[in-house]
Amino acid sequence: MAISGPLVAIYPGSFDPVTNGHLDLIRRSAKLVGRLIVAVLNNTSKQPLFSVEERKLMLKEVTADLAQVEVDSFDGLLVDYAERCGAQAIVRGIRTTSDYESEMQMALMNRHLRPGTETIFLMAAEEYSFLSSRMVKEVVKLGGDVSGFVPSVVWRRLQGL
Ligand code: PNS
Repeated sequence: MAISGPLVAIYPGSFDPVTNGHLDLIRRSAKLVGRLIVAVLNNTSKQPLFSVEERKLMLKEVTADLAQVEVDSFDGLLVDYAERCGAQAIVRGIRTTSDYESEMQMALMNRHLRPGTETIFLMAAEEYSFLSSRMVKEVVKLGGDVSGFVPSVVWRRLQGL
């Protein structure tokens, strides 16, 4: 796939909810590409804490200052969505070696399904290398304070649950 013009990339994920780790990755990858589409997976088989619309709203709020970032949602195959968007690359973060294993499988499958689709991996910031949306939800459910790990809009929403 020949790339002409600025690179269009998709940062896909569940973002249930967006954490400071995700936001760090969005900010860093937005500097590398011409257009970054943050895409929330509309996964009907998972029972999410926030609806896709709520997740999109929070993402839009925390990326409002980033001109090249858009927020959207998708269902079905990621590579089909990438094709529809005209995106040549997928951005993913890696925190640990176990992330590496699953991310490598995903990147290879995506490249098989749509040859030429490149996955750009960014290492998570050290301070967020243990952070996940799953852990944020668990700590909040048990009454813990995760205000340092999520944007303030997300923290307010979590407290209102
Ligand atoms: O934040 P997550 O849950 O780790 O994101 C996973 C995601 C959304 C990137 C992945 O599940 C995905 O791309 N799903 C779409 C379905 C698909 O294309 N599957 C085949 C690629 S392995």
